Formats: sequence, C-alpha cells, structure tokens
Amino acid sequence: MTNNAFANVKACVFDAYGTMFDVHSPSAQAAGGLDGKAGDVSKLWRQKQLEYTWLRSLMGAYVNFWQVTGDALEVALKAFDLYDDALHKELMDLYLTLAAYPDVKPTLEILQANGLKTGILSNGSPDMLAAAVSSAGLSDVLDNVISVDQLGIYKPDQRVYQMVLDQMNVTADEVCFVSTNTWDGNAAAYFGFNVSWMNRFGMGQEKLPGEFKAIIKGLDELPGVLGL
Ligand code: LAC
Repeated sequence: MTNNAFANVKACVFDAYGTMFDVHSPSAQAAGGLDGKAGDVSKLWRQKQLEYTWLRSLMGAYVNFWQVTGDALEVALKAFDLYDDALHKELMDLYLTLAAYPDVKPTLEILQANGLKTGILSNGSPDMLAAAVSSAGLSDVLDNVISVDQLGIYKPDQRVYQMVLDQMNVTADEVCFVSTNTWDGNAAAYFGFNVSWMNRFGMGQEKLPGEFKAIIKGLDELPGVLGL
C-alpha cells in the first residue's frame, strides 16, 4: 500500500549484509566441516563481526571489514573448537560470493525502471562489495555502491549516512533506506532518511531513537510502499 511518507523519494539505498546478501550462506555451504554446528557458528560469526565494528569505531581502531570478518570468524570457530586455517579460508572465500535473496534483483529492476536511483550503503570494504555485487549479478541494477571504508568508521556513526547525500546528490528526505538490521534502520531514521525496515526474520524492534516510516517483510513489498 502506498505510504505518503515516501512521496519525495528519489533514491533507494540498501544495507548489504543481511539485507541483500544472506550472511548465513557460507556456513550452510561448508556445513560438512562444521560438525553439525553450522547455524551456531554462523550466528556467533555475525554477532562478533558486528560487535567488532562497533567496538573498533568507539576505540578509534578501524581496520577494514574483511579483517573484522576474518577476526570474527576465527573467534567463532575457536568458540566451538572447530578452528583450522583451511576451514577459515574456505568460509572467507564463500563470503565473497554470498547468495543474494531472490527478491533483490527484481525489486531493483522495478525501482530503476521507475526512475529511482539505487544504491548500497555498507560496512563492507570496496573489494568485498564489488565481489558480492558482481557474483549476484547486481552490477547493472545499482547506481552507487558506497563503502564506509572511505571514512574509516562503521555504522551507526552518523557520518556514514551523510555519505549517501554527498555521493548520490540527494537530500535526506529524498532517500528511502532499507535495512534488515534493526539498529541500522534506527540510525538511518535518526539521521533523517525515510526508513523502511525489512523485518525478514520476524524480529522485535529495538529501543533506540529513529522511527521507521514503514515495515515490510520482503523487498517485493517495497514498490507498493513507494506507490510504484
Ligand atoms: C552492512 C552491515 C551492517 O552491510 O550488514 O553495512
């Protein structure tokens, strides 16, 4: 259903990991080496990865997302007594070719066909994002792929969201931002974007500033919200 809060939108900007790309696909593909613990390893890997972005940002100790992702994986594998170099490398290689959720490409095509700009705003390092976008066949349906790496600080630092305005030549009110990561949606809304939180996984909301203008369950609902 059309939502008037999005009436001025000229650009749709998406979070990458967890929103467009399934971060649990590497562990599922390498499940044979994970001793029946693929789900638990993957969950801890993701949790540590995010924690390290927040902690390093607060410490002023930035390293890129590839390094953070590798460090988090090492800690997660060791927590389950599963660490070995070859398994670590296999999982990291798979992180470069993450599966995109099936609703991503068709939705981006609809947005572009209706004259909207499309973009990614992600913690991912430029190399990681380029690999994932290309492997998922999304290069033609994305106008901008923006990485925090240029700033050297991670989401939810508000300067990260400002990069969209600087690089896509839009105002905050003209941006529809979509993230499955609830805290990222809160931070983007707090910055001033019109946020459509994508509750793909039936999560509860956080108690954080920044209100969502819409809540969708999948990207296929986004064109309707935008009145397309
Ligand atoms: C990203 C993380 C937050 O892509 O999923 O920025």
